[in-house]
Amino acid sequence: MIGKGEVTMFDSKVHVLDHPLLQHKLSRLRDENTGVKEFREIVSEIATLECYEATRDLPTQEVEIKTPVATGTFKVLAGKKLAIVPILRAGLGMVDGILTLIPSAKVGHIGLYRDPETLAPVEYYCKMPNDIAERDVIVLDPMLATGGSAVAAIHFMKNYGCKHIKLMNILAAPEGIKAVREAHPDVDIYVAAVDESLNDHGYIVPGLGDAGDRIFGTK
Ligand code: PRP
Ligand code: URA
Repeated sequence: MIGKGEVTMFDSKVHVLDHPLLQHKLSRLRDENTGVKEFREIVSEIATLECYEATRDLPTQEVEIKTPVATGTFKVLAGKKLAIVPILRAGLGMVDGILTLIPSAKVGHIGLYRDPETLAPVEYYCKMPNDIAERDVIVLDPMLATGGSAVAAIHFMKNYGCKHIKLMNILAAPEGIKAVREAHPDVDIYVAAVDESLNDHGYIVPGLGDAGDRIFGTK
C-alpha cells in the first residue's frame, strides 16, 4: 500500500487521507459482513470527511461582522462556484455527504460502466449544469481500479471546458493512480487508502468488493 500523506508527481498531488476516523470507517466498508444500510451511510460519511480536505484551498474574503461584543473583520467563503460530478452508479453514494458541507454545489452526472470483458468504460448517460465550464469540479467515484472510468470522466469534463478538476475516491489501486496521473497530470486525487493491486477481474485487492452493488444492494 502507498503510505500516508501527499505524493507529488507532474503537477498533481495524491492526497492519501489517513485520518483515524476515515481509516476506521473504511475498514467497516471492507468487512464483507457490513450490510447495505451501514455501507451506504459510511460511504456518505467518508465523502463528507474527504470533502473537508478537498476544499482546503477554497478562497475566502474578509467581511465586517458585528458580534454581540464588538465589530471585527472575519473570513467567509469567497463564493467560488463548485460542481460535483458523480460517476454512476457508485459515485451517487458520495453526493449527499458532499452536499452536507457544500449545499449550494451543483450536481452533474456521468453514467459509465466497465465492460466486464475488456474493463473499458462505456458511457450511457451525461447531464451537466449549463454553467459547468465556469465551475470548479470534483469528480466522485468510490473506486479507482484500472483508472479507465476516472480518466474518461475527466476527459468529458475537460471537453465541457472545465479547467479546475479534482478526483475524489475512497479506495484506489496503484494502477488507477498511475493512469489518472499520466492522462491528467493537472488533477489532484483525494483518497482514503491505496491498496496493493488489482486481481484478474480488475477488482481492487484486498479492496471492498463491488461498490455499486454494495451501495444499492444489487448482488
Ligand atoms: C465501478 C466503480 C468505478 C469503476 C472503477 O463501476 O464504481 O466507476 O468500476 O473501475 P476502473 O477504475 O477500472 O474504471 P462499475 O463499472 O462497476 O459500475 P457501477 O458503479 O454501475 O457498479
Ligand atoms: N469497481 C468496484 O466496485 N470495485 C473494485 O474493486 C473495482 C472496480
